[in-house]
Amino acid sequence: MFNLDQSASHQSWWQNAVGYQIYPKSFFDSDNDGIGDIQGIINKIPYIKSLGVNFVWLSPFFASPNVDNGYDVSDYKQIDPQYGKLTDVFSMISKFHDNDIKVVFDLVINHTSDQHHWFEEAKQSRDNPYHDFYIWQKPVNGKVPNNWQSLFGGPAWEYNPETDEYYYHLFAKQQPDLNWENPKVHQAVSDIIDWWAAHGVDGFRLDAISHLKKLQNFENVDAPDKAMNNVPGIDTFLSELSDDFKRDHLMTVGEAGGVPIARAKQWVDSQQGYFNMIFQFDHVSFWEKFTVGKVDVAQLRAALTRWQNGLADNGWNALFLENHDLPRAVSYFGNDTNYREKSSQALGMMYLLMKGTPFVYQGQELGMTNVSFKDIDQFRDLDSKHFYQEKLAAGWPVKKIMTSLRAKSRDNARTPMQWSGDQHAGFSATQPWIEVNPNYREINVAAQQANPAATLNFYRQLIHLRLTEPILLNGRYQLVDTHDHQLYVYTRETPTGGYLVVTNLSDQPATFTVPNHLKLTKLVLSNYPNQALNTTIKLAPWAADLYRYERTNS
Ligand code: GLC
Repeated sequence: MFNLDQSASHQSWWQNAVGYQIYPKSFFDSDNDGIGDIQGIINKIPYIKSLGVNFVWLSPFFASPNVDNGYDVSDYKQIDPQYGKLTDVFSMISKFHDNDIKVVFDLVINHTSDQHHWFEEAKQSRDNPYHDFYIWQKPVNGKVPNNWQSLFGGPAWEYNPETDEYYYHLFAKQQPDLNWENPKVHQAVSDIIDWWAAHGVDGFRLDAISHLKKLQNFENVDAPDKAMNNVPGIDTFLSELSDDFKRDHLMTVGEAGGVPIARAKQWVDSQQGYFNMIFQFDHVSFWEKFTVGKVDVAQLRAALTRWQNGLADNGWNALFLENHDLPRAVSYFGNDTNYREKSSQALGMMYLLMKGTPFVYQGQELGMTNVSFKDIDQFRDLDSKHFYQEKLAAGWPVKKIMTSLRAKSRDNARTPMQWSGDQHAGFSATQPWIEVNPNYREINVAAQQANPAATLNFYRQLIHLRLTEPILLNGRYQLVDTHDHQLYVYTRETPTGGYLVVTNLSDQPATFTVPNHLKLTKLVLSNYPNQALNTTIKLAPWAADLYRYERTNS
């Protein structure tokens, strides 16, 4: 029998938690060189604390040539000097801990930088002890070994003259993939995990982890994923790797696109699972990347409900709408012109009160929007630049390419955090590494701190509710299917009552009739004022209401 108190006593810290993702390069620049840094994060701990979150996930700041903004690591135990020193990182960890905020790092172990000493050795000769740390194939007829493609465009193979072989890179050619078939790779990574655990890290987000295994026959594939995503046999690697995290009592969340729900249980099973949670992308990948279009609410409902139901009794969901690779939610799902504030709030309520651990990406709590760069020179992301060149060569008009980039470029999420209406959005005293979104004068922390109706305060209330109401932690998710393209309605329930979440994710007004068996007892939170308790709820565009209800016998 479902019992809230009983299940709460078996909870791990990361289940009763809300995380905040920090992209260090764009968070806060303490030394005014135009680049965010570790000391900048430390300076902003009071702000992070004020959000009510209880852990942070930091995108990488390790030694790196920064071809892919730190997702190309050249030394896992050193810090990129542009972010500070190792001692700054240690002090950041302890200051977060002093504030009861746990610290999750980003572990990039599908690949390294080509400047990691492992690769510098590996490429020298076939009998170098590190050669087998990477994936090599001989040329076929003087060309690439097969048709495998890089996710950043072009072939996934790069020629290495020293050994007359090609090495495999799923991402940029400066990011060679590690060869997980070699047990020494796992040993080397275990050592890194133990080292950071010993320095106080509470968990890891595991970058690109569904790609660890590659198809071992190295033959042509008819679909790119077959060569490198969830390839049969990956389970052995993941299960061995999971022992490291369990040994060190670390929380784990794997970036694992394309794992079907039927298999996901195995990944996040509460006893045997490889990880505590995974990020799945079903609700954010309705289109190929760089396509333009709006989200269909019915599809969104179906995708999220599949995961809520799929992991209802075993496993745990990681809830998110944004990260450093995705467009801003208010621009992608919402309406960032006419209903910017209301739509950012409705989207926040829609996902943050589901069952699972919510993640908020820096600036999302302000309703920060996509940026309208006009020229390719304003972009910094290598994937966006590749895309531009590739489409230009394919004859696309520049206007069409720019429209795609404005919709989906990863740089949309990477413009500096908007702290105030001061120059450079209060992020830095100097020109930042990437331009600030010009709407910072309107959308910024300082302005929203002064306005209780702003999105920032709405997020604070949502986070507080999520962390203090046991039903929002453990209550069962139940979709109330409205069979339309506007509303997302669900309950978080116990046998006697619970919470009803009613959101209108559209630009048009909508009406929702409360089912007979639910008796509304209280309006707990709404982004529109003065709502009465009616059985027919009239919802303005992008309205979001949270009610308490009791279950009746009718
Ligand atoms: C992940 C990261 C992304 C990075 C890629 C390669 O998808 O989130 O930013 O480019 O892995 O490391």
